Amino acid sequence: MGFSVVRRYLPYLRPYWRLVAISGGSGLASLVAATLIPLVIKAVIDGPVTHRRPGELWPFLALLLGLAAAEFGLTFARRHTSGLASFAMEADMRNEFYAHLQGLQVSFHDNWQSGQLLSRCVADINTIRRYIGFGLVFMIVMVCTFLVVLAMLVRLDPLLALVTGIAAVPVVWLGHRFHREYRSIARRVQDQQGDVTTVIEESATGVRIIKAFGRGSDMLRRFEKEARALRELNLESVRVRAGLWTLLVYIPNLNLAAILLLGGYGVIQGQLTIGGLVAFISYLFMLNGPMDALGWILSMGEEARTASDRLEEVLRTQSDIVSRPGALRLEESSGRIRFEGVGFRYPGSEEWILRHVDLDLVPGETLAIVGRTGSGKTTLASLVPRLYDVSEGRITLDGHDLRELTLSSLRAQIGMAFEDPILFSASVRENLLMGRPEAGEEQIRRALAIAQAGFVDDLPWGLETRVGEQGYSLSGGQRQRLALARAVLGSPRVLVLDDPLSSVDVHTEALIEKALASVLRGVTALLVVHRPSTLALADRVALIEDGRVSALGTHHQLLEEVPLYRALLAQQAEEVAS
Ligand SMILES: Nc1ncnc2c1ncn2[C@@H]1O[C@H](COP(=O)(O)OP(=O)(O)OP(=O)(O)O)[C@@H](O)[C@H]1O
Ligand SMILES: [Mg+2]
Repeated sequence: MGFSVVRRYLPYLRPYWRLVAISGGSGLASLVAATLIPLVIKAVIDGPVTHRRPGELWPFLALLLGLAAAEFGLTFARRHTSGLASFAMEADMRNEFYAHLQGLQVSFHDNWQSGQLLSRCVADINTIRRYIGFGLVFMIVMVCTFLVVLAMLVRLDPLLALVTGIAAVPVVWLGHRFHREYRSIARRVQDQQGDVTTVIEESATGVRIIKAFGRGSDMLRRFEKEARALRELNLESVRVRAGLWTLLVYIPNLNLAAILLLGGYGVIQGQLTIGGLVAFISYLFMLNGPMDALGWILSMGEEARTASDRLEEVLRTQSDIVSRPGALRLEESSGRIRFEGVGFRYPGSEEWILRHVDLDLVPGETLAIVGRTGSGKTTLASLVPRLYDVSEGRITLDGHDLRELTLSSLRAQIGMAFEDPILFSASVRENLLMGRPEAGEEQIRRALAIAQAGFVDDLPWGLETRVGEQGYSLSGGQRQRLALARAVLGSPRVLVLDDPLSSVDVHTEALIEKALASVLRGVTALLVVHRPSTLALADRVALIEDGRVSALGTHHQLLEEVPLYRALLAQQAEEVAS
């Protein structure tokens, strides 16, 4: 019934224990007020009403109004404080989940649909909050109500109380059966929600492609299919819940009929006063609310439990790419990078993407990486900042295995730009400062100059213009230049640039190359290039073929000696020209 969820997530409420205590206290106090009301009713009926003394009604009326007001105020306090505490808990859980996602390595994200992560971070955490914040409080209040009411019933009339107790047996049995049946449905509903979210997300991010290829109707069909599956699962869950609810309403009514019959008989026989019978029935009505809520809380508990399982699947995943205990903080790197017998397979894949790669970059050297598409250039570049760890061999920086350095100090030495220049929904300035929050105005200017990103000044709000998904739309070339400026900002010792100029025009490319030449002089750089002109920036060129370095030398050496290199360059020169 979701107790594991409670055990798992209750600690999140600890910082808010005061609110929880107020909530619990007012819940119990309002229960006491509610319990007193039938006793007052009994006193009214057996007292002033039976003895026909209207004057004595007034104090009881005042008492009833007072109790009702107290119950109202206390219920409000309970809901308000439990809401405050549970929303605070939800925010903490979401922050923790997000921080965990941020800490996970790239390969984790390669294998997870973002919609599944999104639905966990939004819907599942919400489900748990509702259960802990409302469902759980309700359940506690309900159990207490049940116990108090039972005690009062026994006091009023033990026989009738026994009948009511017998009626409770099928309720418990039903709850148990429901629990088993509902669990698998709840899980399937939540997974399906993730699939629906994924389709929506992909159509939002891929809207251009979808439109350009006229695949709108295909996407719609795909969405409809997923949405229909979700609807069918939801209907199934409604069917299971409805069955339970109907019985939960039906059983108390049967019980009520039995009590009226037996109680009425008792009053006629004089074993019970009329006021006593009315009070007894009032207590039974007090159970109606909790009974109605029981089905709802049971299903909520199951949903919270599967939501918790789904969150655990992510939270359990630990990143392999972390700073080892005792890792070295590299303060100032000289920039010497060596690949020693490096081999790489993507996690979960059998295929070697890189094998036996040996490279030695002396400080200040620029090494260009050239190869056919799919030959492993991007993969090679992403090993340097440890976006992935090597599968065999090792990469060293200043003689230290990358895995023996702290991640933050390693990445602080490296400036990166990738093929796909991702900008975030933030200002140009924030996008630039992403990796180097401490960089000053002058450094920003210099980085923009190197990347030939003077267009920034023509944006409506200059550096403060919002770009990225919900911001000012930039061209592909403009995005690349900002990404390049971001990489060179703060003068890192090592630059890893994966085809940073693919979308800029030939004229701008020439300008960037000129500016880059001065930057590259002091730093060690790994430069994945497609265009022959960029090769002029490199001291040496490594040709990658089938995951191996098949040739290594200066541009001119390779041109003379390696036919594949000539062929690749000729082909790419043609592409540029066309
Ligand atoms: N995340 C991944 N998981 C599994 N395999 C991958 C992943 N990324 C790339 N690959 C595979 O690794 C191989 C090398 O890809 P990579 O992106 O390194 O090529 P590339 O040389 O950069 O190509 P391009 O010139 O087109 O950018 C390809 O066969 C690709 O299918
Ligand atoms: Mg690539």
